[in-house]
Amino acid sequence: AELADRVPLVWLHLAECTGCSESLTRADTPDLDTLIFDHISLEYHETLMAAAGWQAEENLEHALSEYHGNYLLAVEGAVPTANNGVFLTVGCKGKTGLELVKEAAAGAAAIIAVGTCSSFGGVQAAAPNPTGAKGVHDVIDRTVINLGGCPPSEKNIVGTLMYYVMFGRLPALDMFNRPKWAYGARVHDNCERRGHFDAGEFVEEFSDHNAKDGYCLYKVGCKGPYTYNNCPTERFNGHVSWPVLAGHGCIGCSEPNFWDDMADFEKP
Ligand code: SF4
Ligand code: SF4
Ligand code: F3S
Repeated sequence: AELADRVPLVWLHLAECTGCSESLTRADTPDLDTLIFDHISLEYHETLMAAAGWQAEENLEHALSEYHGNYLLAVEGAVPTANNGVFLTVGCKGKTGLELVKEAAAGAAAIIAVGTCSSFGGVQAAAPNPTGAKGVHDVIDRTVINLGGCPPSEKNIVGTLMYYVMFGRLPALDMFNRPKWAYGARVHDNCERRGHFDAGEFVEEFSDHNAKDGYCLYKVGCKGPYTYNNCPTERFNGHVSWPVLAGHGCIGCSEPNFWDDMADFEKP
């Protein structure tokens, strides 16, 4: 497709691990190639772009001015805010992540926080949060679509981008500004082990026979009853697997503050 037919996308990396970008690269419907050649124009993405150094920064500056008001902004990673954000500086000019995200948000048509770090602070914001890490919505005074998950599945990322590309507006959001189409149901309610939960059949420890038989993981810490996400139905890496199918309980990774609120991950 011509550039004019594609929606420009600027993707910033702040305090993060790049797991969300890893998830994005596993997309299959559409796959990443189709996404960036037919539907969006990926203007800036530190791990996927060919440019480096000054040229990369020029690409970013060019995109922010050329497509002002029209580009989608995706943010991966929390925003360190302590000491004016100096715990994260990016690029040759030494801008803080806080400065960068404010600058990029100013001309964005819509802002998507990809992953729990940029949505709610994530692991960086876990107590005692020495860098003052926050979600994007805490530093930007407008609606931010939060794609909770550490990482969110590629479906939740691509589906949200494609929703905007196709309809030109934001999808319906839940109380934490997560798209309802992806985060509208509890993990527990669609889990393939739910029958075992209802029958009172639990794994008591990871090495026991009940674990081998695929019993419910609630007693070894599964937080599926408190977590909203589509992992059991949509899975990850295409439709290959998800945490409970792989044998470990859900750790509540798409919920705000899960590092503090859901710990200990292996105890009920
Ligand atoms: Fe990494 Fe998780 Fe943060 Fe994504 S949400 S950048 S996977 S720590
Ligand atoms: Fe619920 Fe977790 Fe048990 Fe599945 S494994 S039924 S999500 S408690
Ligand atoms: Fe995260 Fe739980 Fe899904 S840990 S990946 S929300 S099953």
